Amino acid sequence: MKAVILVGGLGTRLRPLTCNTPKPMIPLANQPFIELMLLRLRDQGIDEVVLAVQYLADRFRQTLGDGSQLGLKLHIVEEPEPRGTAGAVKNVEHLLDGTTFVFNGDVMTDLDLQTMLAFHRENESKVTIALTPVDDPTQFGLVEMESNKRIRRFLEKPRAEDITTNLINAGTYIIEPDVFRYVPPDQFYMFERGLFPVLMQTGDPMFGYPSRAYWSDIGKPQTYIDVNHDILIGKVRHTFRGEQIADRVWKEDSADIHPSAQIVGPVVLGPEVVIKRGAQIIGPTVIGARCQIGPDVSIEGAILWDDNVIEEGATLRNCVLGHGNRVGQRTIITDGAIVSDQCRLGGENRLERGIRIWPETTLNDRAISF
Ligand code: GDD
Ligand code: MG
Repeated sequence: MKAVILVGGLGTRLRPLTCNTPKPMIPLANQPFIELMLLRLRDQGIDEVVLAVQYLADRFRQTLGDGSQLGLKLHIVEEPEPRGTAGAVKNVEHLLDGTTFVFNGDVMTDLDLQTMLAFHRENESKVTIALTPVDDPTQFGLVEMESNKRIRRFLEKPRAEDITTNLINAGTYIIEPDVFRYVPPDQFYMFERGLFPVLMQTGDPMFGYPSRAYWSDIGKPQTYIDVNHDILIGKVRHTFRGEQIADRVWKEDSADIHPSAQIVGPVVLGPEVVIKRGAQIIGPTVIGARCQIGPDVSIEGAILWDDNVIEEGATLRNCVLGHGNRVGQRTIITDGAIVSDQCRLGGENRLERGIRIWPETTLNDRAISF
């Protein structure tokens, strides 16, 4: 079975985390998101995947190769210019045959694909759209169905007054290839505003597949933190790498942990992490490869990517640190603050309330003080 993953877009809402890292490459529980997604597809019977990318194809090739290390066949195809969601699939049509899964590349879900496929076949559907309930559909594609789940209306980014249901397009589709005859070649064309409304008119059967599977958009800073936490606390089906060294504490390769340090799971420790005396790490927390956690540092609910150095007595709570930062003594970072990459933050600073620090920023000691 084949699948296409749509991975265009600049990930602007996740800046500054996406300044140096394409959105699909940002790590969840220490593993690039796209890698987690590919493993999930492989485990559910998909053996060949086309990544439809808009830019940075080489970056994807370097990390993922031809997919053989992940146990599937991978094609990475860069569009000559942005083609839109449907145009991107049309652009790789020559690599497809038969019923195909299509995924938005910025959604974390543990939806059961084989059950969805059985539903698609039972209904002899041309396009089946996975649906999920949300509180506010205005940022999504609203889907209205008949009682037999046949879709009667698809409305992208509805206005508040047009909201008739809380079910939205969850960004997983099963598509019969003959519907691509409606998609104009070599043009920008979207499923959401183009193909789906057209299929309503032609009468080709489209069905909605509602489910209560885990579902979250990873495209915003707070949801990025939440998804990491949800993986750690077990809300999403997930296989952790490395060995479990204590109750819900996973360690990849060697780690140097001082006996007086306290680690309370769920915590993921990347390879070659160093944790000094008296440090306290409380889950749900992720510590990336080669991070050095200084003496008496206190960390809770934080997501650290690789190569961060945290000096004595610093506090990190519910925040994200990108790659290669240094955090000075007794500095406090809390409340959804995001520090990008390669920053030098002096001692006794206080970063809170969603503050975002751009790459390579230097802050003196007590620059943002108590
Ligand atoms: N290759 C390629 N080319 N990919 C694209 C392009 C393109 O021109 N445009 C968008 N994509 C990819 C994005 O990278 C993303 O993975 C996916 O297609 C959806 O685009 P977004 O820009 O993230 O759309 P959205 O989040 O506003 O809305 C979409 O997703 C919602 C669910 O998260 C729509 O499909 C909504 O209907 C849906 O509810
Ligand atoms: Mg999106």
